[in-house]
Amino acid sequence: MERTLYWEDDKLYLIDQRILPHKIEYYECTNYHEAIEAIKTMVVRGAPAIGVSAAYAMALAEVEGVHLNAAADEIKQARPTAVNLFWAVDKVLEAVKNGETAVNTAIEMEKEDISINKRIGEYGNEVIDKNDTILTHCNAGALACAGYGTALGVIRAAHEAHKNIRVICDETRPVLQGARLSVFEMQQENIPVKLIVDGAAGHMMQKGLVDKVVIGADRVAKGGVANKIGSLMVALAAKRYDVPFYVAAPISTFDYENDIFDVTIEQRNKDEVLKINDKYITKKETEVENPAFDIVESDLITGIITEEGIKKAL
Ligand code: MRU
Repeated sequence: MERTLYWEDDKLYLIDQRILPHKIEYYECTNYHEAIEAIKTMVVRGAPAIGVSAAYAMALAEVEGVHLNAAADEIKQARPTAVNLFWAVDKVLEAVKNGETAVNTAIEMEKEDISINKRIGEYGNEVIDKNDTILTHCNAGALACAGYGTALGVIRAAHEAHKNIRVICDETRPVLQGARLSVFEMQQENIPVKLIVDGAAGHMMQKGLVDKVVIGADRVAKGGVANKIGSLMVALAAKRYDVPFYVAAPISTFDYENDIFDVTIEQRNKDEVLKINDKYITKKETEVENPAFDIVESDLITGIITEEGIKKAL
C-alpha cells in the first residue's frame, strides 16, 4: 500500500485522495496554510489521517516560525466533525509546552497511529469468523489513517489470519470513498471485494448476504457515533436483520465531554451532490442538502473496537 502521508525535508506530502484510484500523486505542503487547504478540500480525509495531518500542519507552522497558538486556532477551523483534528493540535501544543518540538511530536504521532491500528486489528479479528462477509461504509482504511486502517485494519487482520473473508463496500456517495478508496485498498491486498450502491446495503442484509458490518468513526461520544453519511441507514438495517454492527476507532476519536447530538455535522458544498466526475447529473439550480456525517445511536452498535479492547458505545 502506498503511504498516506510522509514528512521529508521540512515538507508534508499527502497522497492526493481526490484522484485515487486512477492516479497516484503526492500533494506537497510547504506551509501550514497549504496543509489546512488539503484537509478542507479532502486531499487527505478520514479522522486519524486528518489528526496526523493537523499535527504536521503545526510542524510546518513551527518551521515557518509562526506563533503556534495562532496557527492552532486556524488549523482547528479546517473541518468540524472528526475530533482527532482538535485532539492532535492540542497534543502538539502540550508537547511544545513541555519542551518537545512540533515536528518530532507529529512524527511520533504518525508512527503511533499505525501501531494503534494494528492493535485495533488484533482485537477486531477476534469477532470475525471464518468465511465471514463483512460490509463496510466509506473508507476507514490505511488511507484514512497514517496506515493499516481501523475498520479495514480489522479486515486486514482477519485476512492475514487466513479467515477467508469477503468484503462488500458501499460506494458512499457523494465523494465515493467506498468505491474509489476502500475497493482500491482491498484489491491491492487481494482481499475479495464487491462494490454495491449505497441503496443496496439493506437488500444484501435482508437476503442474509452480510455476516458483520464494520465501519469507522469521526467521533464517539455520549449517545452514539458520528460517521460518514449513510452509516445510520446501514446500522438500522443491521439491527432489523440481526447483523452485528461494529465500529472500529482509536481512543483519540472518543470525546468524553460532549453529547453526540451536540457535535457539529459538517455541511459540504452542494456541487458534491449535483455532480459526478465534474458533470451535472441534474439541473444546477436544484436545492441540495449535503450533510457529510450522520449519527449512529449507541443501541444500534454491537461494540467499539479500540486499541484497548472492545468497548460498549458511550
Ligand atoms: O469525509 P471523510 O472522508 O473524512 O469521512 C471519513 C469517515 O467517515 C470515516 O469513516 C472516519 O473518518 C473513520 S476513518 C478511520
